[in-house]
Amino acid sequence: MTKVSIASQKGGVGKTTVAINLAYSLARRGWNVLLLDTDPQGAIGLSLVERSFEHRGFFDALCGDALSGLIMHTRVPGLALMPAGNYRRYDQAPVSLDPAARRRRTGAIFAELATVDRDFDVVLIDTAGGTHSVTGDVLWHSDQVLIPELAEPLGLRTLPQILHLMADLQAKQPPTQVLGIVPTMVQGDQPNSASVVRKLREILPAELLFNTVVPRDPVFLRASEHGVPLALLSQHPLPSALIFDQLAAEVEQRLPGLAPAISNRSDGLARLMD
Ligand SMILES: Nc1ncnc2c1ncn2[C@@H]1O[C@H](COP(=O)(O)OP(=O)(O)OP(=O)(O)O)[C@@H](O)[C@H]1O
Ligand SMILES: [Mg+2]
Repeated sequence: MTKVSIASQKGGVGKTTVAINLAYSLARRGWNVLLLDTDPQGAIGLSLVERSFEHRGFFDALCGDALSGLIMHTRVPGLALMPAGNYRRYDQAPVSLDPAARRRRTGAIFAELATVDRDFDVVLIDTAGGTHSVTGDVLWHSDQVLIPELAEPLGLRTLPQILHLMADLQAKQPPTQVLGIVPTMVQGDQPNSASVVRKLREILPAELLFNTVVPRDPVFLRASEHGVPLALLSQHPLPSALIFDQLAAEVEQRLPGLAPAISNRSDGLARLMD
């Protein structure tokens, strides 16, 4: 089981969008994936689960709840969710006032994930923007971090902060590695946006940057309105949905221990024969 956090210094860069769509693509490629929401905003639950505020989740686990009742299976084979759960309960619990206890509990939750329910190949973790508090603990206990990078000049200016943090995380035992940086909201026809992607390719080692970039596309807003990954918005694959299959293929190659999936799963939407 590999724990991959999706994190960025800056908010609103597409972390949750990447988490949902990458989790879907990895599951469709044959992996058992848990999409774990550790952001108090609870965007994954709000996007994908009706009446999500009624479901317990990660913040309830921080308060000591066992994980078995917190994992929800989805209609997509291989894809399970753990929503953020009740942040208010966590905020009033002793663990929220004791950073060392919270870090230990986060580690215990991640260790327990390896034993519950079934074998998750990948736990994809959505985080709150920034790198402190709960997100800091989640990054500390992650194996890998995927960093969405806003393809705008402001995005470039905040990149050094998270790279410094990553250098610290790579120095601890066991290290948390950088899985890669993926440019998001790329507008190829806008000189400012295209030049940020060019600059990233100039200044970063090739192994740090994914080849895939996520374009800015209004269909993402439609997908979040309907509460589905982009690939489920239409019977015909939308170009921006296929981007996440490319990203998933790159993630497979970069994750130690994950050989490329043998076969794609069918979700029953497009079966050729019975
Ligand atoms: N590639 C894209 N093209 C167009 N809109 C996008 C794209 N990616 C995300 N969005 C939209 O931008 C907004 C922010 O995206 P998202 O919630 O994924 O960012 P985030 O980094 O998770 O934000 P936060 O830091 O608040 O958690 C959402 O409304 C989302 O639908
Ligand atoms: Mg988010």
